[in-house]
Amino acid sequence: MKHLLSTAQMTRDEAIELLDLSDEMAEVNSRENKKLPTLRGKTVINLFYEDSTRTKTSFELAAKRLSADLVNFSAKGSSVSKGESLKDTALTLAAGGADAFVIRHSASGAAHTLAHSGWTDIPVINAGDGTHEHPTQGLLDAMTIRRRLHKQHSRAKDLSGVSVAIVGDILHSRVARSNIHLLKTLGANVTVVAPPTLMPNTNALGVEASYSFDDTLASKPDVVMMLRIQMERMRGVFFPSEIEYSQTWGLTATRFRALDPKTLIMHPGPMNRGLEICSEAADSEQSTIVEQVANGISVRMAVLFKLMSPERYSNV
Ligand code: CP
Repeated sequence: MKHLLSTAQMTRDEAIELLDLSDEMAEVNSRENKKLPTLRGKTVINLFYEDSTRTKTSFELAAKRLSADLVNFSAKGSSVSKGESLKDTALTLAAGGADAFVIRHSASGAAHTLAHSGWTDIPVINAGDGTHEHPTQGLLDAMTIRRRLHKQHSRAKDLSGVSVAIVGDILHSRVARSNIHLLKTLGANVTVVAPPTLMPNTNALGVEASYSFDDTLASKPDVVMMLRIQMERMRGVFFPSEIEYSQTWGLTATRFRALDPKTLIMHPGPMNRGLEICSEAADSEQSTIVEQVANGISVRMAVLFKLMSPERYSNV
């Protein structure tokens, strides 16, 4: 694996290898000294054209815990405002010596362009490109489900037989796409739940579509993954009002209290509390939201380790 651009082409073995390595990194992160010397002398460039809290800071922490140097670039306040292209920005940042790019961009395909344009030959990690994919989010979500369910039952290394409902703005969600591909590869049964206006072509994605959140909850999924309404990507009106959205598609207190107490509640963040998820659910013991963020550091350490240090890739 040279780049990490998508989960769509990832094999089951590749996914399990990365999840196992992420578990090893989680063990490192539980130590008093959380640093490994593995990437000493290497440089990671965080190239962020869109806002981020979790992904940007966790890639920074991941790089630093592996002893790499890290350069944080935000398009806001940079020469991008003067019209500088992605190519020239990347070449400029790589000129000081770079061993990997982490890129977030509003354009679907931007990570692929950076990886395959011939501008540089270093690994590229997609940290979210438009409405296309967010592969490290898919990996950290799979890691979270696997760790939680392994605690509850003794399950196999993959997610065979686990039922996952992904709920909300599927149309604009790169998180949904990366999760759908990866969860299916790992054997999970995925249902996407959304109003018709926010439902993409599910035949192309190979998942079941549901237009009733209450019917889907009645089928008792193991995992309910709520998604953020992505107002910034909407060109038009997709639902009548926030109150109506919340009543029909939100994880309200009434729906939350009716859930089996073992049901995992996930959200990639940032959350619109009171819109797609109520605080009672978000802050409950069933919620994995903070755990997802912590697992994100371990997953990103695993990905940097795998792509930047393949010759040293053995036990940590
Ligand atoms: N989940 C996620 O990608 O969050 P950020 O936008 O804060 O990075």
